[in-house]
Amino acid sequence: MSNDIETGIVDGVMTIRLNRAHKKNAITSDMYGQMAKALEHSRTHADVRACLLLGSPGIFTAGNDIADFLAVAMTGQRGSMAVFDFLKEIIKSEKPIVAGVDGAAIGVGTTMLMHCDYVVASDRSTFRTPFVDLGLVPEAGSSLIGPRIMGHHRAFELLALGEEFTAEDAKSAGFVNRIYSSGAVEEAAMTVARKLAAKPPEALLLSRNLVRGDREDILIRMEEEAEIFLGRLKSDEAKKAFMAFMNRGK
Ligand code: COA
Repeated sequence: MSNDIETGIVDGVMTIRLNRAHKKNAITSDMYGQMAKALEHSRTHADVRACLLLGSPGIFTAGNDIADFLAVAMTGQRGSMAVFDFLKEIIKSEKPIVAGVDGAAIGVGTTMLMHCDYVVASDRSTFRTPFVDLGLVPEAGSSLIGPRIMGHHRAFELLALGEEFTAEDAKSAGFVNRIYSSGAVEEAAMTVARKLAAKPPEALLLSRNLVRGDREDILIRMEEEAEIFLGRLKSDEAKKAFMAFMNRGK
């Protein structure tokens, strides 16, 4: 197990930090596995009352590790399914999730935010899902909740056209709550997480469930997307895009 994910629980807040800055916090299977375990703990243990997702100063995450994608593309094997464990946990989560974003949030770095309850971003943050350019399709249930959150046209712009959203764009699209300067983001996110952790937990759970609604359709969509996504990983379009990224600058 690597140190690429750091977790800790203080005052009822479980912090899950992406800690692989030299690779722009690109998420490996091992990291998805660790995040899934942390979220599972938060769902099943009363010592956690709120979760806080953080990246590093200047980078939230560059999304899925493209070397892992390439390995699936080249071997034809499904590879680790840890990403789906993580996505299922974030969709099924029973504790509120706050995210603090500073810098780029790419691919799953953006789609995971759609499952959070409160997102704080720095003014230099950017949000991008280049799925189609990589020969892939949207994941994490984003093809269903993206349009719900921001309407078809903006969801299409983000998820299919692959345009980059600024923090202001993301706020007006509805998946960022507040914008701060980069130095103030983590403190602001932690303040919200602590506030949630101090609330009566049963009333909070019931209220959150009412606001979020039933999540079964999102889980079903995530599975449908995953089938297509896994097929696309082995497509010529995807192989070409992964090779281009891995060989850039060479
Ligand atoms: N998977 C694997 N490695 C990645 C990565 C990813 N998604 N994103 C960045 N890295 C690695 C780079 O290969 C590089 O490693 P190296 O130093 O061993 O060569 C290191 O992280 C730094 O990245 P670099 O591209 O040099 O930094 P940058 O500041 O010029 O650009 C990004 C940062 C995030 C804009 C750029 O790396 C990028 O576009 N990454 C891919 C994003 C993506 O398409 N993700 C998949 C979404 S589905």
